[in-house]
Amino acid sequence: MTDDLGRAAEPGQFPGSPFSGVLRQPLILGLFLPVQSGGWSASLLPRTTDWRFDYNAALTRRAEALGFDLVFGLAQWTSKGGYGGTSKYREDSLDPFITVTALSAITERILLISTIHVLFGPWHPLHIAKFGATIDHISGGRWGINVVTGYSPREARMFGGRHIEHDRRYEMAGEFSDIVCRLWGATEDLTLQGKFWSLENAFVTPKPRYGRPVLVNATGSPAGIDYAATYSDLVFITSPAGHEIDAALRVLPAHNAAIKAAGVERGRQLRTIINPMIVCRETDREAQRYHRAILDAADRGAIEGFVTHQRAGDAVAWKAHGDEHRALGGNIQIVGSPEHVIDKLLGLKQAGCDGIQVAFFDFAPDLECFGEAVLPLMRQAGLRLNEAP
Ligand SMILES: Cc1cc2nc3c(=O)[nH]c(=O)nc-3n(C[C@H](O)[C@H](O)[C@H](O)COP(=O)(O)O)c2cc1C
Repeated sequence: MTDDLGRAAEPGQFPGSPFSGVLRQPLILGLFLPVQSGGWSASLLPRTTDWRFDYNAALTRRAEALGFDLVFGLAQWTSKGGYGGTSKYREDSLDPFITVTALSAITERILLISTIHVLFGPWHPLHIAKFGATIDHISGGRWGINVVTGYSPREARMFGGRHIEHDRRYEMAGEFSDIVCRLWGATEDLTLQGKFWSLENAFVTPKPRYGRPVLVNATGSPAGIDYAATYSDLVFITSPAGHEIDAALRVLPAHNAAIKAAGVERGRQLRTIINPMIVCRETDREAQRYHRAILDAADRGAIEGFVTHQRAGDAVAWKAHGDEHRALGGNIQIVGSPEHVIDKLLGLKQAGCDGIQVAFFDFAPDLECFGEAVLPLMRQAGLRLNEAP
C-alpha cells in the first residue's frame, strides 16, 4: 500500500499493526531509556540508573510486562568527559539504534524507537531504508525512528561536517524521509535525482511488515512542525513555557492544537507525546523531600556544561527551559503522590497530549513504584485500557 507519491503507507492504516494497537490507548505510555550515563539528571545523589545494556534490557522487559507501549532511546555525541562535572555527565552512551535492535530480539510486544541523526556523516536514505526494514523484520513491525537533524554545531563538526542552517536541515530531512518511504513502498527498482541525494536502480526487500515503520520527530519550530505534518506519526513536543507543570498545562492546549492542525492541513492525523520526569512517593511531602535531595546533590559542573552545549545549538523547542531544574531534568516535571501524578496526567490529556514518555531519576525502583502505585490509578481514571489492546 502506498500513497499517490509511491511512499509506503502509514502503520496506523493497518488495523493489525503494533502501532494501531498503541493508538487504541487513551494515553500512550512510553519509557525513555537511560542509555547515556546520568540519564536525564545531573545530580550526584546515589541511585541505580545505569547506561549499560543489561540495565536497559531489564527496564524494557519490565516496562513491557507492565503494559507500556514503547521505549525510546536518544542519541547524543559527546567528547571525552561528556558534558563535564564530577559525573562526566553522559560521557558513556550506547547508540540507541543498535540498542533497540538488540532489544527487539528479547521483547515481544513493546514498540522500540531509536533516534538517528540522519544528516550526520555519510548516511544515505538507502542505508536507513535497508537497516530499518531489517529491524522491522526482526521486531515484527515494532520499530520506529526519531528523525533528528542535529541542533548542535559541535556534534556536526565531529563528523567533519558543518552546522547546517535550521530550516535547511528540515528541508534536507524531508527529502531524506521521502526517499526512505519510497524505497519502503517501491515494488520496482527506484531511480531518482533529488536535490540532496540520488539513487540508481535501488531496491529494498523485505518490505516493512505494515507499510512503513513508525516515524517520529521532536520539535517546536515552524519548520519542524511542517516536516512532522508530512511525515511523522508521533511528534515529541516540549512545553513552550518551560519545565514547570502548571505553566505547561496552560500553554499546551494551543500548542497541541496548532501541531494537529498542521497535520490536518495535509490530510494527516498527528499524535503528540511529551516527556515528563516523574518523582512519585506515597505522599506529596515525601516526593518533595526526595526532589529536594536530588537538587541539593546537583552536579553543578555537569549542569553548566550541558546548558552551554544546548545554548550553542539552535533547538527552538527548548528555548523556555531554564537551568536550575536540570539536576532532575526532563521536559516537564511532576513531583508528588500517585494522586497528584494522575491529576497532572489528566491535565496533559485534556491539554491535547496523546501520550507521555516518562523518565525517572532512579529508573529501576521508580519504574516499579510507577507500576504499582500510578498505573492502577491511570486505569481507574480512564487513561489506560484495562487490557492490553
Ligand atoms: C523527547 C525529545 C527527544 C530528543 N532526542 C534527541 C536526540 O536524541 N538527539 C538530538 O540531537 N536531539 C534530540 N532532541 C532535540 C530535537 O532533535 C530538536 O533539536 C529539538 O526538539 C528542537 O527542534 P526544533 O528546533 O525544530 O524546535 C530531542 C527532543 C525531544 C523533545
